Amino acid sequence: MTTAIVNIGQLVTLAGPPRPRIGPELRDLRLISDAAMLIEDGRIAAVGTYTELLPHIPPHAMVVDARGCCVTPGFVDAHTHLVFAGNRANEFEQRIAGATYQEIAAAGGGILRTVSQTRSASEDQLLASTRRHRDWLLRSGTTTIEAKSGYGLDLATELRMLQVIARADSEGPARVVPTLLAAHTVPPEYSSNRAEYVRWIAEELIPLVTNANLARYCDAFCDDHAFTVDETHIVLASARSHGLRLRVHAEQFRPGTGAALAAELGAATADHLEMVTEETLHKLRVAGVQPVLLPGSVFSLGRTQYPPARKMVDLGLALVLATDFNPGSSPIASMPFVLSLACLHMGLSPAEALTASTINAAFTLDLGNSIGSLEPGKEADFAMHEFEDYRELAYYIASPARPRVFVAGNEIIQ
Ligand code: NIG
Ligand code: FE
Repeated sequence: MTTAIVNIGQLVTLAGPPRPRIGPELRDLRLISDAAMLIEDGRIAAVGTYTELLPHIPPHAMVVDARGCCVTPGFVDAHTHLVFAGNRANEFEQRIAGATYQEIAAAGGGILRTVSQTRSASEDQLLASTRRHRDWLLRSGTTTIEAKSGYGLDLATELRMLQVIARADSEGPARVVPTLLAAHTVPPEYSSNRAEYVRWIAEELIPLVTNANLARYCDAFCDDHAFTVDETHIVLASARSHGLRLRVHAEQFRPGTGAALAAELGAATADHLEMVTEETLHKLRVAGVQPVLLPGSVFSLGRTQYPPARKMVDLGLALVLATDFNPGSSPIASMPFVLSLACLHMGLSPAEALTASTINAAFTLDLGNSIGSLEPGKEADFAMHEFEDYRELAYYIASPARPRVFVAGNEIIQ
């Protein structure tokens, strides 16, 4: 079965080497004007100008007319907390009235509020809310989603969250990649024995989760209000020895909270990094750790210090942008809005932002050879936008644009 996408005004292929883009490569989108794309059995068979591909379109191919619009790879959202019950709209209101995110957490709200709501939800209830969140992401062009546990913090609920992630992935249409985040915060049962909670994660939960093949990554929140560098080390070292790759919530509120550890352990990513120092950035570069920047959480928390994205590009780090979609610090499902923030507040060009949210993000999930760019052999995951120029993605801020979204060559009807 062949599908021919024709009349593509601007095709953003992001073709390039089989590794994440760095430095000036982030701006090289490998555009093709007046383009077409052939898809066979869900994979890209050819991209090129319409004139080049016309002789190769089989007579019975299904033809999709892009009407002169722009086609980009689907977004790869490499940092989300997709699975949770309830919401924290009350805390949104409290923060507007002056309370800080950390004060709310210290008073028993924050992550622990979502933990108690998630613990009370059945697997089917959680799957229903996860589908709703997933559809929000899909609607703005996201086709692959990294999803973390971390609102259970006990055996039954952490496993239930990971089961929901597995079910969401297997039912499609979005691809969903599971990350264990039991080290999100210390649950109330262990508040006076946090060492025991860390030991339980490292010695009991991680072996169980890896035996059941329920996670591909392990993450930990290294922060004054979550886990110390030493505690984070215990969790991540165990995860690594059980074959999980690592991601770290690091340097969100204070330098020295986890990024150097991410470098030391050879993590795939260090995420947040609002407060990271230049010295630590060098360590990340040498270790090949990819920074995942989450400007949506800076914006939603009303903070003003965005991570030093330009410096990261200059130093040769393989930058990634993600939503951090979660009920507390980033109730933002729209990757185009994250691109707008990255351009306006971090000085990225629209091209750099697009590369950071597609091909570079795919490499952090070990999927860089199958998704993230539109090249022959790759999965046909793409968005067909309502406009002609990729720069309009970031430019129409928080627009209600609805791209046509395709996963493995199939259009997602929502
Ligand atoms: O990535 N920083 C820690 N975890 C999330 C927030 C989760 C929540 O508030 O529910 C984050 O920002
Ligand atoms: Fe997060």
